[in-house]
Amino acid sequence: MKGIILAGGQGTRLAPATACLSKQLLPVYDKPLIYYPLTTLMLAGIRDILVIVRPEERHLFNALLGDGSAWGVSISFAEQPSPDGIAQAFLIGEDFIGDDDRVCLVLGDNILYGSDMTAILADAVAQHSGATVFVHSVSNPQQYGVIAFDEHGAPTDITEKPAKPKSNFAITGLYFFDNCVVDIARRLTPSGRGELEIVDVIRHYAGAGKLRVKPLGRGCAWLDAGTHDSLLDASNFIHVLERRQGLKIGSPEETAWRMNFIGDDDLRALAQSLAKSGYGEYLMNLLQCG
Ligand code: TTP
Repeated sequence: MKGIILAGGQGTRLAPATACLSKQLLPVYDKPLIYYPLTTLMLAGIRDILVIVRPEERHLFNALLGDGSAWGVSISFAEQPSPDGIAQAFLIGEDFIGDDDRVCLVLGDNILYGSDMTAILADAVAQHSGATVFVHSVSNPQQYGVIAFDEHGAPTDITEKPAKPKSNFAITGLYFFDNCVVDIARRLTPSGRGELEIVDVIRHYAGAGKLRVKPLGRGCAWLDAGTHDSLLDASNFIHVLERRQGLKIGSPEETAWRMNFIGDDDLRALAQSLAKSGYGEYLMNLLQCG
């Protein structure tokens, strides 16, 4: 399975913090925002990853992530000249996805955290056809794609940013699709706001009876970092958990090591390069205490 991180966008709601820097490069507490969706893909066991960025920021993402080999993954880059919609990722990534692979798309500003996350991801990876999306209850569904269900749990309505939401279940920025998604994306037409909409792709799968909708329970946290308040909330959330548990969330070095993408010597070398921050010390401690 291939992985795509969509990390373009204008970040207008975060101006002026994003005046000359992508939202996805801003820190969420102790690490860049993009580390969180990256480690979500890594936890799913996905090692072939395309990062889609704005052309003018490609060199910055490249400086941060390199080719991924330090973390035992392969990272390549593609450009999205203007934010023409989430579903455009499948057109930009068409060659990368290829003719018969499945693909997991994650938005560059989405943070998913929960004790069941590894099992939830493994379950989605195990599905060989159709689409899997995750929904989470939110207090402000008007700002998201929203799915409503009938009494049997079957989706009855899928609407982007509904003025009058028919449920509180927002579609999170993590999606698994079979190879048909490329064809479906090719046939999309831009919406009223001029974007290739991910909800149109999801609706297509629902219409064909091939959509799985997985609610994330209250034990899972889903945060996006699109506004000043939500960015600060995300930083505070990560800070509180990391300080309390003594465990880092969203560390590619640790994830690579725990997933056996890299070995002890690799982790030691990474830790040494970060020796002057508590981050490096944390990685070094993993080798001693696990
Ligand atoms: P948004 O938050 O909808 O858009 P944005 O990042 O441009 O921010 P703002 O609304 O403040 O201007 O995007 C959600 C995520 O998806 C974010 O990580 C950027 C990414 N994205 C793209 O990379 N390209 C796109 O065309 C769209 C629509 C989103």
